[in-house]
Amino acid sequence: MDRFVIEGPVRLSGEVRCSGAKNAVLPLMAAALLTRGESVIRNVPDLRDVRTFMRLLTILGVKCDLTEGVLRLDTTAADGIEAPYDLVKTMRASVYVLGPLCAFRGEARVSLPGGCAWGPRPVNLHLEGLRALGAETDLEGGYINARAPRGLRGGNFRFEPSSVGATCNVLMAAVLAEGETVLANCAVEPEVTQLVDALIGAGARIEGGGTTTLTIHGVAALDPLRCRVIPDRIEAGTFLAAAAMTGGEVTVQDCRPDHLGEPVAVLRSMGCRVEETADCVRVAAPERPRSVEIVTRPFPGFPTDMQAQFMAVLTRADGTSHISETIYPDRYTHTAELRRLGADIRLDGATATIFGVTGLSGAPVMATDLRASAALIMAGLAAAGTTTVDRIYHIDRGYERIETKFAALGGKIERVSD
Ligand code: EPZ
Repeated sequence: MDRFVIEGPVRLSGEVRCSGAKNAVLPLMAAALLTRGESVIRNVPDLRDVRTFMRLLTILGVKCDLTEGVLRLDTTAADGIEAPYDLVKTMRASVYVLGPLCAFRGEARVSLPGGCAWGPRPVNLHLEGLRALGAETDLEGGYINARAPRGLRGGNFRFEPSSVGATCNVLMAAVLAEGETVLANCAVEPEVTQLVDALIGAGARIEGGGTTTLTIHGVAALDPLRCRVIPDRIEAGTFLAAAAMTGGEVTVQDCRPDHLGEPVAVLRSMGCRVEETADCVRVAAPERPRSVEIVTRPFPGFPTDMQAQFMAVLTRADGTSHISETIYPDRYTHTAELRRLGADIRLDGATATIFGVTGLSGAPVMATDLRASAALIMAGLAAAGTTTVDRIYHIDRGYERIETKFAALGGKIERVSD
């Protein structure tokens, strides 16, 4: 298994380019199943999750090619309907094929996604939403079976709570359903809005993109997708937080400042100077950040996917901070590992209290999930001495060549294979 060996402390400085968004490209890949022909998606990051999704589509009969950021998905000969357990268990987003297969093929058999490092990840809203469109679903042997032999028909459904994945899945099913569908309390994350725009570009009739209510008028068929993946706001936020972690100056290029409103507001509260242009954000951080209060919320609130990274920053803050995790109350597996580096954190249910310390000390730590891995790397870069981060296959799922990008900012980080 690979691990990272990190020497600290360093002050990161320089420029880094933001890659395409993992959480945007995965639903777009699933949406290709709604069409017959070759879809072309650009600015695709070469990530472990993208490669896993390509394997899943290949099993379904799709010809996949990713070359220099251009992903071609040819569904001409695709005829599969099953997403197998041994693949779904490695990537929950595999469940995205459920809606498109049900809509385009009239049936789907998808392994029920398990939980993840920090707890259960239910899919009840995905199933309830498909049933609202006339699908019959049942669970058998750990698999979701969904059938719509006479096609899906328009219906009304409200997501409670709002759900990124369920919004994407049910939206993709609705675009080929006969009649009108109204989806209420939809997620409005930029990745969902990109999916809406890409489907409209392929001939879907959708109103309300970017709002919590989507009205879809079903069409008989879609053209193959032609789209360019939006920049990864979570990756961008990670590098901006790393500047605050190390008291450095970092510019993230090719990003979308309008997707980073809340994280940038928190960085300013920490005492960072932040400058923005149309596609760049530059952070100049103080020696020690100020303590802040963070509550995670659906977009445009503070993203849960940046919670671990900002917790790492706050371990060095000049004061006591609090984080309240309202999306995933148990998303704190990184806390124990940060404590190994000298952090002083107390957990009380979904709330973390972080007592800022003047400095961290290097130690061996273990990655538990994708965003926790990023937090541990950031902390290792700021800690005095050597930090090793094990199980970094987690980080490769969602960050493209992260060690190369941190090294370009002056980070002393090396990937070591056992
Ligand atoms: C997406 O997961 C992201 N993954 C996650 O990012 C992200 O943390 C999450 O949205 C929240 O923003 C991808 O886009 C591939 P949800 P998703 O459905 O769709 C509850 C990362 O690090 N819920 O929006 O699974 C759920 O328990 C990953 O890139 C139900 O109750 O998240 C949670 O409390 C981690 N029933 C809330 O909704 C359901 O059927 C939001 O979850 C579905 C969800």
